[in-house]
Amino acid sequence: MSWHYALDSNDIKNETMKRIVIEKEPVLIVKHKDKVYALEDRCPHLKASLAKGQKEDEYVICAKHGAKINFINGEIAEKAHMFFIKMPTKKATILATKEEYHKIFVQI
Ligand code: FES
Repeated sequence: MSWHYALDSNDIKNETMKRIVIEKEPVLIVKHKDKVYALEDRCPHLKASLAKGQKEDEYVICAKHGAKINFINGEIAEKAHMFFIKMPTKKATILATKEEYHKIFVQI
């Protein structure tokens, strides 16, 4: 694993998400309360892009089957579901981030 430049901190507004690709890996960057988080942009359920979902507080809700994923620790607050059937949903993969001189780096 090594650190990779992701984007400038001004390139993402507070309380929004952005999909980027680093070393061919899709990464979802989320800015929440002025802090930047990163996770694999693959839903732990069936690998849909989480960037198409919605940010709600410290969660991203997958647009495909509604899994509610904590982007800070990867925990699943609500499993994926279809109608009333809940489906097994693994923990999300969180990526380490750091900021230096207004530049965001992600560890991959
Ligand atoms: S692919 Fe995300 S909830 Fe199914």
